[in-house]
Amino acid sequence: MKIGIIGAGNMGFTLAKLFIKARYQVAISNSRGPESLQEMVKQLGDNCIALKVNDAAAFGDVVLLTVPWRSPEALPDPQYLKDKIVIDAMNPYKENGELFELGESTSSEETAKRLPGSLIVKAFNTIHFKHLADAPQKELPLQERRAIFIAGDNTEAKAKVARLIEQIGFAGIDNGSLHDGGKLQEPNAELYNKEITCGEALTLEAKNRK
Ligand SMILES: NC(=O)c1ccc[n+]([C@@H]2O[C@H](COP(=O)([O-])OP(=O)(O)OC[C@H]3O[C@@H](n4cnc5c(N)ncnc54)[C@H](OP(=O)(O)O)[C@@H]3O)[C@@H](O)[C@H]2O)c1
Repeated sequence: MKIGIIGAGNMGFTLAKLFIKARYQVAISNSRGPESLQEMVKQLGDNCIALKVNDAAAFGDVVLLTVPWRSPEALPDPQYLKDKIVIDAMNPYKENGELFELGESTSSEETAKRLPGSLIVKAFNTIHFKHLADAPQKELPLQERRAIFIAGDNTEAKAKVARLIEQIGFAGIDNGSLHDGGKLQEPNAELYNKEITCGEALTLEAKNRK
């Protein structure tokens, strides 16, 4: 499976490294073009190439969004993402660090409106990039690994993202629809920055259901 990454900063680079270690082919992209990414490509090795944003979107069977949410112009043209799984890791911060007021909506529902036709799955939003880099635990059983929450409206797409998360050393936990699950993952909500194992997350979920 090939993964296209839109945004090659802290999150994009860290996840590219993890996906490549798990033997995926990765294309990275940024706002300045492939030339500006040559050093990063060298660092990431043979399974990485740098492409323009729309080309990275076309390259990926799965596409990861790690650009600022406040910059919709950074996203690929929706035609390149049609029917693809698109992982939205973006959080709705303004440049000054304040949050956008989204009312009843959530940032990933707004992303879905910007990219009609794609299968949006919200994941990696609640974990700091340094923890992603430091905490992969492939040697541990799933129950003992750190949980990464997955929200979305397409069950099959969420299952594929969960598998991807397992392969990079974490455990994916389905936490509901893009709306309900997405609300819990937003900055300052219940799951944001929550360091919790998969086993603990499942116990908590069972308690909440009672
Ligand atoms: N940092 C974290 O720990 C963390 C955790 C969870 C979620 N997130 C989310 O992940 C996303 C990326 O965060 P990050 O920390 O990786 O950011 P970052 O280091 O600033 O990287 C942003 C990337 O987006 C690209 N980009 C494309 N268009 C842009 C535009 N119009 N304005 C600015 N940058 C543009 C930048 O490319 P150029 O350099 O070429 O402009 C860069 O490659 C954000 O939405 C953030 O909320 C971050």
